Amino acid sequence: MRIAASILAMGIALCATAQTKLFQEPYRPQYHFTPPVNWTNDPNGLVYHQGTYHLFYQFNPFGNEWGHMTWAHATSKDLLHWKQAPIALKEENGIMMFSGSAVWDKDNSSGFGKGTSPLVAIYTGHTDTLQTQNLAYSVDGGTSWKKYTGNPVLDLHKKDFRDPNVFWYAPTKNWIMAVSQPIEHQISFYGSKNLKDWKHLSNFGPAGDTSAVWECPDLMPLPVLGSNGKTKWVLYTSQNSTMQYFVGEFDGQQFLSDNPTGPILKQDHGLDYYAAVAYYQTANKDIVSIGWVNSWNYANAIPTKPWKGAMSLPRKLALKKMGDEYQLVQTPIDALKTLRQTVQTLPNKSFQNTETLLLKGSSYEMQFRLIPGAQTQSGIRLAVGAGRYLELGYDASKQVLYLDRSKTPSAFNARYAELSRAEAALPNTGKIDLRIFLDASIVEVYAADGTVVMTAQVFPEPGDTGIQLFSNGGISQFEGIQFWKMGSVH
Ligand code: FRU
Repeated sequence: MRIAASILAMGIALCATAQTKLFQEPYRPQYHFTPPVNWTNDPNGLVYHQGTYHLFYQFNPFGNEWGHMTWAHATSKDLLHWKQAPIALKEENGIMMFSGSAVWDKDNSSGFGKGTSPLVAIYTGHTDTLQTQNLAYSVDGGTSWKKYTGNPVLDLHKKDFRDPNVFWYAPTKNWIMAVSQPIEHQISFYGSKNLKDWKHLSNFGPAGDTSAVWECPDLMPLPVLGSNGKTKWVLYTSQNSTMQYFVGEFDGQQFLSDNPTGPILKQDHGLDYYAAVAYYQTANKDIVSIGWVNSWNYANAIPTKPWKGAMSLPRKLALKKMGDEYQLVQTPIDALKTLRQTVQTLPNKSFQNTETLLLKGSSYEMQFRLIPGAQTQSGIRLAVGAGRYLELGYDASKQVLYLDRSKTPSAFNARYAELSRAEAALPNTGKIDLRIFLDASIVEVYAADGTVVMTAQVFPEPGDTGIQLFSNGGISQFEGIQFWKMGSVH
């Protein structure tokens, strides 16, 4: 990232960064996206255009807490190395720029193109009393943006109505918008020929988790693995600091869930994953999502500066048929392997109690197969220091994968301290395959081929870099242990 240029582009004074060099501060992720300075939350406007990935992100230009919501902008060729671009959409006339999406309007259906194919952003304009959907466009490949003078394009005179996600639906030659009616726990679908005039098509919900307002919908067709090209439609929503998804069909008008009264399905069973949305097109034709790694329970209180908030690893999405149900499969994008440094391989192990490994680090990837003994709790401890560690374990009697950060520093916030453990059901097939990413203050765990994923923040003491395997209540085996320090993207 070109730091000096990016800071200037954001219009932010460098004095905010004190003495520490940017991107070398305590807790700073080295291969996850973070803004150089200041607050971020949701990823916005994910679009791939002429070989460039655009990432817009909710941003506060004036500080390190939520406020003055703005769309900041970064671009990348590989979804890992990001260059900051000028701020795209600024708060204006008391209207904040809330979350939304961006599309490449190839045929200039909007007329914004003036002989070219514009990029069009569809965002929520927010005031304390009104949320509406609005357009902005760029005719220079995303560098500069103009708000449409005919805004808003969709106004229901409601206080809560936000986070439009737009895509092109070829069979009916329509733009489709999925947009949240947060209080009603509904996603509304609208159709348009020109991105300006929108017609209501249908609503989905309430369904699944209705314990809090629904935000940030995303609707996309995902490939079913091993099915020779079959796809199923998947709808994402975010609520209550977690996410859920529904699998079903979309006919251009209406989304029908296969199982509207079924169990709640979660993209991520950790403590810090929210507002994820996807690139519908990538260089490999994959669908790749990015989520915000933080939790509204304590988001403003995390101890990082001069920035707050990060994006998850980009995850390639697919579905797997398990019995009659479809399950989401998430795989970190292949390009991540280019950041791996020399592999370190350890011999297989079989033991009870704990074994400290010779490996150490704060930004790495690791994988192994756990063969848990009957009735054991076994797994790995990361960020190990004197009596401190983050535990990732499998409880063979409960058949759950768990993440426990209660033995890591938490004094900065009571709610964070309280939310110290997460669990996910994972049947005991005798072999638990784990792929683990630690990156300073972020841990992401992909189990069972990406069918169970957990993401969480952790704020270790400096120097807490040890790694330990453990097996309580009996002997467990650890096979195929591989470890890579990860190169920095900065
Ligand atoms: C989700 C969210 C969105 C909103 C944005 C405001 O985290 O609450 O619903 O558009 O953040 O920053």
